[in-house]
Amino acid sequence: PYPIYEMMRASQPVMYIEPMRFWSVFRFDHVRTVLSDSARFSSAGGRPPASQGTPAPGQRDGFSLITTDPPRHTQLRSLVNQAFTPKAVAALEPRIAELAHELLDRVSGTGKIDLIQDFAYPLPVIVIAELLGIPSGDRDRFKHWSDEVVASADTLIGGSASGSLQAHREMNEYFSGIIAERRKAPKDDLISALIAAEEGDFHLSEGDILSFCALLLVAGNETTTNLIGNAVLTLLEHPEELAKLRSRPELLPSAIEEVLRFRSPVQAMFRTANEDVELGGQVIPAGSRVVAFIGSANRDEEKFPDAARFDIERTPNGHIAFGHGIHFCLGAPLARLEARIALAAVLDRLPELARVNDEPLTPARGFIVHGVSSMPLRFRPQE
Ligand code: HEM
Repeated sequence: PYPIYEMMRASQPVMYIEPMRFWSVFRFDHVRTVLSDSARFSSAGGRPPASQGTPAPGQRDGFSLITTDPPRHTQLRSLVNQAFTPKAVAALEPRIAELAHELLDRVSGTGKIDLIQDFAYPLPVIVIAELLGIPSGDRDRFKHWSDEVVASADTLIGGSASGSLQAHREMNEYFSGIIAERRKAPKDDLISALIAAEEGDFHLSEGDILSFCALLLVAGNETTTNLIGNAVLTLLEHPEELAKLRSRPELLPSAIEEVLRFRSPVQAMFRTANEDVELGGQVIPAGSRVVAFIGSANRDEEKFPDAARFDIERTPNGHIAFGHGIHFCLGAPLARLEARIALAAVLDRLPELARVNDEPLTPARGFIVHGVSSMPLRFRPQE
């Protein structure tokens, strides 16, 4: 998409796209405004036409943080923040490393890996299951629901009900059971923390918690999978940067930030204009759907000198891959931690990593999530 973005930034940075019936915004400053000016750009109407329809069960009376505006968003986010703390995320580090190594143990003797299917895809699903406190015996069921929920979500910003009502229903029943158990006997997990969170007299309802669990599956899995996949792919395409990273592992965090900028796992987010808004000399009429192209903003030369260059030492790197403002990604610390651990494990355990052939990889579906669905690689087998 990058040559198209470049053309649009130069010639039509704010443009109405007739067949899709939405306004598109391509420059960094405009994208940041659309994402963060929640008074003028609402997230509540923020579903693309394709996914409009019956809300998934559990979303009807509950909330989905990502599709709520203030003042409700402020209240919900503050409750969720009490449960989803940096401390809770940091505590996961040893367990994530253990899981990453377990997944690599399965392939390290063979010299072959599908980096997505064998590694980058299962890892985030298991991490979220553990974060929520799903007993390991229920892991397979959880993974099945998670696949269904993700597959049924046309976009990052909300689940559509098509095709997987059964899975949604089963999952909600299962989580209702866990919520009831945790109400009686709290544990050290996210669901117990969500139940306990309070602000004044306000608590999260059961519907709120169920919707939040579904949102975590949609917002937290495929995105993290693609961050890990895009990181490996981009490093393989830039051998000099890969060599630099191998010799200076302290550059890992900054390399991950550069992957987030250079190949943003989430390429676009939707809003709805609350009023007529003037942007880049155009008037976006009240009620219009607006797409903020994060993937384009992160390649804007006005913001990033030599933007098309992949530079793992880039400083400053003020990308907006996790959004900006009140909806800034809640899971950013977790995504960064998982990516850091996953990449370190791959570099350490899979020597002489290379593409199996030069054939183009199959892109992940849709224009919002950006990555590949499969990535066969080879390496020197380990004893
Ligand atoms: C919000 C990207 C991983 C949970 C967002 C937004 C972006 C984003 C761009 C802003 C949406 C908007 O402005 O409308 C990403 C990327 C990820 C990632 C690129 C991985 C590389 C995760 C993970 C979780 C998560 C691991 C949770 C486990 C959320 C939630 C929101 C959100 C709950 C909504 C926050 C709100 O509306 O207040 N994410 N995300 N994300 N993300 Fe992430």
